[in-house]
Amino acid sequence: MSLCPSHPTELSGHAEKLIRGRRATRAFRPEAVPEETMRAVFSLAGAAPSNSNAQPWQVEVVSGAVRDRLADALEAAHAEGRTSVDYAYSEDMYAEVHQDRRAAFGAELYGALGIGRDDRAARAAYDAESLRFYGAPHVAFLFAPDNAGARLAADVGAYMQTLLLAMTAYGVDSCPQGLLSFYADTVRGELGVTGGKLLVGVSFGYAEATAAVNRLTTGRATLEATTTFHG
Ligand SMILES: Cc1cc2nc3c(=O)[nH]c(=O)nc-3n(C[C@H](O)[C@H](O)[C@H](O)COP(=O)(O)O)c2cc1C
Repeated sequence: MSLCPSHPTELSGHAEKLIRGRRATRAFRPEAVPEETMRAVFSLAGAAPSNSNAQPWQVEVVSGAVRDRLADALEAAHAEGRTSVDYAYSEDMYAEVHQDRRAAFGAELYGALGIGRDDRAARAAYDAESLRFYGAPHVAFLFAPDNAGARLAADVGAYMQTLLLAMTAYGVDSCPQGLLSFYADTVRGELGVTGGKLLVGVSFGYAEATAAVNRLTTGRATLEATTTFHG
């Protein structure tokens, strides 16, 4: 510990590297993550904070033949328009400033993929392909309890970020995919899960270093745009 807590410490240096080093990976190599690494990562993620330490998350980790079968089922559900969402989604939930950031991100992502601005068909095909977890050998589904509203979902969100950072710390690359939650019934059906509300899926494994899409770097709003210091 430093004598003056506002000075950078050894831990803050690691935190800068860890937090800024995580990024969404959208092309994976097929190699599996060793089981002991998986156990270490998911144990560490369990250290996430939650309201009254309720830890209201249920995590389903999918690999191997089950992963392949699930990818096929998601592709079929998508082709047949069988969507099912546990947490309602609507474009109107975004204010103009948030829409602007989304548009900037979309332009960067599809630009990196060589997909034109107005090529809706190519964008849709890319999104459909992403239901195969961008080629990742594993995917974790994060569920909140059946009755979970915004507060419990926020706890599961805290778990998600802790999981993503734990993965980064262990050299595992990841992509949180909200799109997977649009097929909640398919996920539950394939995994034999009977309850819970699906918030997000996290695809993970090892990045394909040569893929241009993995070189995408996303900007962030300025500190002043999001944060006010009072007093
Ligand atoms: C809850 C959540 C849902 C997301 N859903 C998707 C998704 O469906 N597909 C995708 O490619 N990326 C998805 N992302 C990744 C974001 O696009 C990404 O985190 C954001 O653009 C910032 O980039 P970075 O993660 O590389 O820093 C999601 C991220 C979060 C936190």
